[in-house]
Amino acid sequence: MELRQYLLIPFLCLLLLLSRPVSAGDYLNAAHGSSSYGVERTSTSTLGYAQGNCAHCHEQHASIGGDEPVPAGGEASDYLLFDANHTSQTENFCFDCHQSGGYQTGGISLNKSYSYNFGGDTTAGSYDSTIKDSFSHAEAMAGSSHYLPDFVSQVLGKTLKNADGVNWSLPAGINPCDACHNPHLAQRNVNSPYDATKSAISRPSDHDNRWGDDASERMSAAYSDYLSPYWWGSTNHEPANSTTSDGSNLPNYVRLCTDCHNQYNTINSTNPRLPGSPRAIRKLSWKTTAVGVTPDGHGELDGATIVYARAPYTSGTNMTLNCTDCHEPHGSPNNIFLIRSSINKAAISTTDTTNPSWQSLCYNACHTRATHSWDRGTCYNCHYHDGGHGGF
Ligand code: HEC
Ligand code: HEC
Ligand code: HEC
Ligand code: HEC
Ligand code: HEC
Ligand code: HEC
Repeated sequence: MELRQYLLIPFLCLLLLLSRPVSAGDYLNAAHGSSSYGVERTSTSTLGYAQGNCAHCHEQHASIGGDEPVPAGGEASDYLLFDANHTSQTENFCFDCHQSGGYQTGGISLNKSYSYNFGGDTTAGSYDSTIKDSFSHAEAMAGSSHYLPDFVSQVLGKTLKNADGVNWSLPAGINPCDACHNPHLAQRNVNSPYDATKSAISRPSDHDNRWGDDASERMSAAYSDYLSPYWWGSTNHEPANSTTSDGSNLPNYVRLCTDCHNQYNTINSTNPRLPGSPRAIRKLSWKTTAVGVTPDGHGELDGATIVYARAPYTSGTNMTLNCTDCHEPHGSPNNIFLIRSSINKAAISTTDTTNPSWQSLCYNACHTRATHSWDRGTCYNCHYHDGGHGGF
């Protein structure tokens, strides 16, 4: 079908009603716009809309040709979406497809956790099979997840600062998932082989740009001392199960996460799984200095050389880690802090904030010592982001 027909005929009205037009070229390269694996809601597909067509997500009057395609009912939704954009942690427009079953014809194949896709751990029970499951840990299942209601109340429609102290804001009312993704741009990077130029993420401070697709937006460009963890069961490295370990194939996730988590922004969490909730999330700095917080030893802090190290971290030099080396971006079967179920080839179990959890994380993954002379009270008394007593 011609591009003009494909985009314009069904969407003339939509484009007139909505403020910013979506670029056709970018959209057709996006995962949702793909004519081979893009959006295809069964009910709209039956009405003749081709795979990738905007109509699989947007409906002009909640009705096409006199009938309302499934799901029917409800009021006209914001942004002319076929369903409410965001209702709760487990009811979200995106979950209408990004779950098992759902409205996408044939379901969605690439829908799994970070440890599975980019760490290679396919052990049964260690990963989430769908994005909806990844977010269900905060309430419906054991584990921990980023809490979307707080994205709505603390991030969208607010002015926040990025790690350089520069203000940014996103419109109130957009989907909380779209703080980190742009549904019109996100590409599929894990369509074997892994392809870093096809990034799925956008930084909240730069919503209309994909993040990590350009070489200047990778870990290696920001940190010359980055070394990616091993791939599960191998001495190949994340995220591509290859020998590349310098982060030249990895989006700079530190920059993504520190758009929100830095020394400036106060984020109040009501996440039921956050230890001590409700409370403000700790501020942190991945840099060498920051006013008001203690910079992290796992960040850029000069001279904080890793001690009692496991391979591949044995060079004895300073190193800077990446947030997703330890954390899942969406959620994890581990009960606290979205800690990954496996890191650097080791299975990790953090059930609570007591010593065995931290020992599982610190000693299985990266350090070789089982106890150390500072082992008094719980590890969590001393080791946390911004921790002053021994740092983190
Ligand atoms: C009509 C069904 C549908 C809806 C609704 C939907 N998606 Fe998707 N999404 C897909 C399909 C199909 C793909 C490509 C599947 C694949 O890669 O196997 C995809 C891919 C993606 C990707 C790229 C990553 C990848 O591995 O392909 C991201 C990111 C994404 N979706 C986020 C979202 C967000 C955020 C929302 C809500 C704003 C959303 N999706 C709503 C069907 C949908
Ligand atoms: C995967 C579902 C999905 C598909 C497919 C999709 N959109 Fe959207 N669109 C959204 C969501 C969700 C929003 C609401 C803003 C948000 O939450 O990010 C939105 C918002 C918009 C907006 C409002 C401005 C903006 O960018 O926020 C326009 C205009 C738009 N879409 C046009 C289109 C057009 C044209 C197409 C096809 C070329 C299309 N959309 C395909 C999900 C989709
Ligand atoms: C805090 C930022 C953040 C939020 C919020 C977020 N994501 Fe993601 N998402 C990521 C990161 C980081 C990745 C993994 C990196 C990548 O794929 O490049 C990812 C990956 C994905 C993928 C691709 C998974 C795959 O198998 O490749 C999909 C689909 C997706 N997210 C959908 C969603 C949906 C739906 C929501 C809301 C319910 C959401 N995301 C909220 C950061 C986020
Ligand atoms: C768009 C802003 C935003 C971005 C980007 C973001 N977060 Fe968050 N994060 C939040 C909000 C809001 C909360 C508070 C709600 C909650 O507790 O989940 C939070 C909470 C957290 C928590 C505590 C949750 C718990 O239960 O322990 C962790 C851990 C976390 N984020 C890690 C990350 C990581 C890692 C990244 C990058 C992959 C990231 N965040 C990117 C907004 C963001
Ligand atoms: C070495 C593993 C590791 C790395 C790397 C790491 N974290 Fe964490 N993170 C943890 C642990 C352990 C906790 C729980 C202790 C704490 O609260 O600091 C945690 C907690 C958090 C919390 C919740 C803080 C609170 O108020 O309880 C946020 C937010 C967070 N991390 C964000 C990040 C971001 C952003 C990055 C990258 C800049 C990052 N983390 C890198 C291990 C890590
Ligand atoms: C009273 C505070 C305190 C407690 C409690 C504590 N640590 Fe430490 N930890 C430190 C200090 C201080 C260092 C040295 C930091 C440095 O050299 O920069 C350290 C270093 C480490 C290191 C680096 C390697 C090494 O052995 O020197 C690891 C790993 C570590 N701690 C893990 C743990 C674990 C796991 C627990 C709980 C069983 C724990 N710590 C309890 C303060 C503490």
